[in-house]
Parts: sequence; C-alpha cells; structure tokens
Amino acid sequence: MTSIKATSGGESAVRVRGLVKHYGSTKALDGVDLDVRQGTVLGVLGPNGAGKTTLVRVLSTLVQPDAGTAMVAGYDVLTQPRQLRRVIGLTGQYASVDEKLSGRENLYMIGRLLDLSRKDARRRAEEMLERFSLTEAAKRPAAQYSGGMRRRLDLAASMVGHPAVLYLDEPTTGLDPRTRNEVWREVRRMVGDGSTVLLTTQYMEEAEQLADELTVVDRGRVIAEGRVDELKARIGGRTLRIRPTDGHRPAEMAEALAASPVTGVGGATADVEDGTVTVPIVDDDQLTAVVRLLAERGFGIAEIGTSLPSLDEVFLAVTGQKASVPQDPRPAADNSDDLEGAAV
Ligand SMILES: Nc1ncnc2c1ncn2[C@@H]1O[C@H](COP(=O)(O)OP(=O)(O)O)[C@@H](O)[C@H]1O
Ligand SMILES: [Mg+2]
Repeated sequence: MTSIKATSGGESAVRVRGLVKHYGSTKALDGVDLDVRQGTVLGVLGPNGAGKTTLVRVLSTLVQPDAGTAMVAGYDVLTQPRQLRRVIGLTGQYASVDEKLSGRENLYMIGRLLDLSRKDARRRAEEMLERFSLTEAAKRPAAQYSGGMRRRLDLAASMVGHPAVLYLDEPTTGLDPRTRNEVWREVRRMVGDGSTVLLTTQYMEEAEQLADELTVVDRGRVIAEGRVDELKARIGGRTLRIRPTDGHRPAEMAEALAASPVTGVGGATADVEDGTVTVPIVDDDQLTAVVRLLAERGFGIAEIGTSLPSLDEVFLAVTGQKASVPQDPRPAADNSDDLEGAAV
C-alpha cells in the first residue's frame, strides 16, 4: 500500500475508520479509513466494483456496516441515523427524482419531505430551479428532460435541504463530454458556496478537476491517499523531456544517458517521432546531473521540461491495472435511466 499523508488541519466533516461491509464472500469494504475536511472535496477514485457506492450507502445510513465507525457532521451512522440523514445530500447512480413529476413538483415534494412548510418548500423549489437553470423547464415532467437537465435536477434535489455534507456518487458516469462539463461547473459552484463534498468517480480527470484530496480505492481497500498534486508527484515521479538541438539525434542522447553513471536515468528513451528524449526523474539532483552530463558530452539542448504523471498513470502505478473503465457515453436523451448500480 502506498500511503501519503493527507494535509493536516481542518475539522473532519466525514470521518471513517475501519469500515467493513461484506456481501457473502465479497468484501465490498475491507477496512476503509478516510476523512473529508470541512469545506473541501474528497475524491474517492476507483474502478467499477471498488466499493464506492457501498461506502456512500453506509455514509447515508442506507446500509449497515459489519464493522468500523463512521461519523458525518458529528453524527454516528449507527446510533444517530435520523439526525445524520438531515444533514446530508445525495445524488448519483440511483435516481432521487420522480419521472412523472415536473422539475418543480419534484423539488417541492422533497422540501415537504424535509418538513418545510408549503410556503418554504415552494420558495426553496423556485430558488433551486433558478440556481440550476431549470426555471424554463420547471413545468415539464422529468421524464422529458435531457441527460444534463436530469443531472442538474438531481443536484438541485440533493441541495434542497441545505446539506452540510453532499455525496456525489459518480455524478457524470455515462454522460457525454459536454454534459459532463455542465455538471462539473455546477459542482464547482456548490463547492464555491462552501459545501463539503464526497465525490466518487472512475475518472481521473474528474478527480483532478474537482477534488482537493484523493482516496484511491480498489477492492474495498484504500490503496493511496493524499492531495491530488502530491499523489501525482510522489507516486509517478516526474518525467523530464529533452529536445536536442539540430544535428543531435534523440537516440544517441538516450543511449548516452542510459549508459551514464547518473543513477536512475537508465530508463531514458528516445521518442523518434517527437524528436525528444524522456527520462524518469525521482529527485532534483538527477535533473542537474542529467543536464551536466549532456553538456559534458557536447549535446545541445533546444528544449527541456518536466511534467507530472497523469492520474491514470498514478492508478496504474499503485494498482498495476488500468483504472478507467472505458464506457460508451450514452446519448443525453437516454440518460433518464439513472439506475445503473441501483440494484445494490
Ligand atoms: N447488495 C449487494 N449484494 C451483493 N453484492 C454487492 C451488493 N452491493 C455491492 N456488491 C458488491 O460489492 C462490491 C462493491 O460494489 P460497489 O460498492 O457497488 O462498487 P462501486 O460503486 O465502486 O462500483 C462489488 O463486487 C459488488 O458486486
Ligand atoms: Mg458505484
């Protein structure tokens, strides 16, 4: 297990310790620890079947854990489920919206379920419609909404009760890129308003776009955690890319580096098509050593730069497998079927 300490400081809005949930012989959660600090977004990143939805269901009091503890906004999932449900919002793989009702009716009904007076429920519904750009579509049944509108209505529904903590369970899985961007924009606004968010995702890019910190899960276990940039920097190391000046072939440069006494640069490879050499770098000393060596050997450097690995590479590094399960984005109109994973 690769463990990187999360940034210290900040109250935990969600605190999970040793959470275990088995389904028969399947260990959906196999001893999970995590913290979501107040006012931040924790990305829970993992492939299909990693245990993300089970975690969200435990934290929503929909599923009882076999062992471990979980506190949300100071309430215990096991002993204070009613109080806890009042302070959370949930949206994601299972629909929270009634297809037959209009957007307005859905939001009004949720307000009523949350014990708002008729007047307050009506006012809150209008606020949410406005906020999520659904005012024009307010009277139409949700069944007629496009995929993007549906997700916006889901987000609006989860926000009616002013939740202290919001769970977004794969909010963009199956969405086309345009709709995904739309959802990201809304989530960013919610976060900007100070929400604490636990976001599960299979997409590296999504975690990178939205999360402050990341917990990478695989088969019910936390396999890495830390700030997004830390994870990228520490696990994958950096890559140094060098473009030789005209007249110097990348292959010769790579050979010279690979054969050099500089430690750790044996992995230098030439990208002939691109005309560059890439060198895996673990520390700054290596960087200096590489540049000095090339200068000593008379190689001219036209361009040089370092880059962090992508989160896909991070996942590959820690799990030994690819994380992103390629999915065909369903056409927007088809997204009313939000129930994928709901059978759990
Ligand atoms: N109600 C259930 N009954 C049996 N197995 C389940 C149930 N819910 C989840 N699982 C299993 O637990 C594992 C984790 O599932 P899940 O939490 O849905 O993962 P994720 O949301 O990361 O895709 C999977 O192997 C899944 O098949
Ligand atoms: Mg899931």
